[in-house]
Amino acid sequence: KRIALVTGGYSGEAQISYKSAITVAQNVDREKFDLYTIDICKEGWLYDDGKGNRTPVDMNDFSINFDGNKLTFDAALMCIHGNPGEDGKLQGYFDMLKIPYTSCDAATSALTFNKRYTVAVAAFSGIRVARSVLLIKNRFTNPEEIINNLQFPVFVKPNNGGSSIGMSKVNNASEELGAAIEKAFNEDDQVLVEEFIQGRELTIGVFRKNNEIITLPMTEIISQKEFFDFEAKYLGKSEEITPAEVDETVAEKIRAAAKKIYQVFNCKGIVRIDFIYNEKAAEPFMLEINTVPGQSEASLVPQQVKAMGWTLKEFYTAVIEEAFV
Ligand code: DAL
Ligand code: MG
Repeated sequence: KRIALVTGGYSGEAQISYKSAITVAQNVDREKFDLYTIDICKEGWLYDDGKGNRTPVDMNDFSINFDGNKLTFDAALMCIHGNPGEDGKLQGYFDMLKIPYTSCDAATSALTFNKRYTVAVAAFSGIRVARSVLLIKNRFTNPEEIINNLQFPVFVKPNNGGSSIGMSKVNNASEELGAAIEKAFNEDDQVLVEEFIQGRELTIGVFRKNNEIITLPMTEIISQKEFFDFEAKYLGKSEEITPAEVDETVAEKIRAAAKKIYQVFNCKGIVRIDFIYNEKAAEPFMLEINTVPGQSEASLVPQQVKAMGWTLKEFYTAVIEEAFV
């Protein structure tokens, strides 16, 4: 089978997408799959032959010119975090061309990329989430609404984004709040202000194989920064414990919530769901769903796969095969 490894993207997360693509490319089973890297970036859509040659992709049918021949693909292996690979845009494009892909479908990708919609649907399904206020650029933006409705500290984040880019923690109603909102608006036209939930940060990979929803061993994140921000995520400023050392009752609650979310949102492929486990409520609170979770050296899903006793090769084989189901 010919597989397009689709990487890059138009957002600030492109740098992470390239790192993820390196891990994936190194671990895809080449006896089973022929892999071609397609870089979707500001310069265009380019087939990269790995030897320094980059040639344009024909967007009409997602084909490339390979040694003078037109080459099409059996499936796309999605390795773009953020726009346009995690938010439903490419998923819609591939649907129109009837090319299978490894991620959630267009609707689920678009829904889950919007943090506000995600918490709304999750709450509707009985999953605990933090209280929040959504601000829209040049409309309804009224800090009073935050101060009156939420308890500090709060997190201020771009509503559509990832890797904690543009995100801040604000401890009280101060000038800091305005600055944090402005920073988040630099990344997105919508800003989510969300109450801080006290507790342990646990994140869990979930995927489907042979119609069974499988949870990976979960990771506990202990950040040396104020929260699990970009530096903590990618520059080693956090401790990540996989499998997390939590009581079995806690672990089971997380796994059950993760499986329910995977089902409710009709997820496909590998997703990673982030939670805070709050002792007082004795419940996990869902933060968000990452439908194209990081696969870089520093990322969590590869650590979880290894903790499960799988090789990355076995894992990516399962992920690619699931695209055809
Ligand atoms: N958004 C980053 C890549 C992650 O979820 O791992
Ligand atoms: Mg995320």
